[in-house]
Amino acid sequence: MPAATARPAAGGPVISLDKVVKRYTMGTNEVLAMRGVDLIVEPGEMVAIMGASGSGKSTMMNIIGCLDTPTSGSYVLDGVPVNGLSRNQLADLRNQKLGFVFQGFNLLPRTTALDNVELPMLYDRAGRWTDTRATAAAALTRVGLGARMDHEPSELSGGQQQRVAIARAIVTQPTVLLADEPTGNLDSHTTVDVMSLFQELNEQGITIILVTHEPDVAQYAKRIVEMRDGRIIRDVPVADRHNAKADLASMVSDDALAVVA
Ligand SMILES: Nc1ncnc2c1ncn2[C@@H]1O[C@H](COP(=O)(O)OP(=O)(O)O)[C@@H](O)[C@H]1O
Ligand SMILES: [Mg+2]
Repeated sequence: MPAATARPAAGGPVISLDKVVKRYTMGTNEVLAMRGVDLIVEPGEMVAIMGASGSGKSTMMNIIGCLDTPTSGSYVLDGVPVNGLSRNQLADLRNQKLGFVFQGFNLLPRTTALDNVELPMLYDRAGRWTDTRATAAAALTRVGLGARMDHEPSELSGGQQQRVAIARAIVTQPTVLLADEPTGNLDSHTTVDVMSLFQELNEQGITIILVTHEPDVAQYAKRIVEMRDGRIIRDVPVADRHNAKADLASMVSDDALAVVA
């Protein structure tokens, strides 16, 4: 096993956006998707990004995720200045420091959970991983799917598929977990179940940034950042943070009451 995710000895924020502008040009049309965004995220934070459709949430996540680069302004990820890196360097940075979770799970079909979770380690060009099968199995056990490793996505529920996707995202021990609408395709019970897993992983030290348009989901985060028209218009700590495990327990007892009522 490699050492835990390398952090610069000096510490410092994991995410630092400074006056980031993102301009898309389509023909003669220009869209300013980010209009000078400053954002600092410290290690151990759990941030919910909110805002109406088109406000720039996905654009910001793509930049934080090194899938796209700013038109102007600077971005430093875990001590590494991202501006000016080549495509290959960006890919390596993603593989080493970031884990991604998507609304639609994005698992490979007809491929077992274990094979899906092993994949990011096989893609690591730095060759950091040796015992990839055992490491993938440990990640699946960590998300509560130790007994489902040989199942393909079609044999799993939506919540289980998202757990496999989360195992795939954390298997490389990323510094930051990025999730764009991770509960958008899940029913309310499964949503709370997935949020309880995010809270557990965050307790264990991983920094989490998630996009959601559901206020209930944002209440599980520690901080809410709201965007409008490419700008951050609100950035507040969550006053009455919800505990997903406790909410799950009360949902189960409500269900039990409904049965006897
Ligand atoms: N690849 C792109 N090309 C052109 N315009 C884009 C592109 N991606 C996003 N936009 C525009 O940028 C703005 C912000 O989009 P987006 O970041 O997807 O918002 P959100 O995720 O909050 O719905 C929108 O006006 C959208 O149409
Ligand atoms: Mg979006």
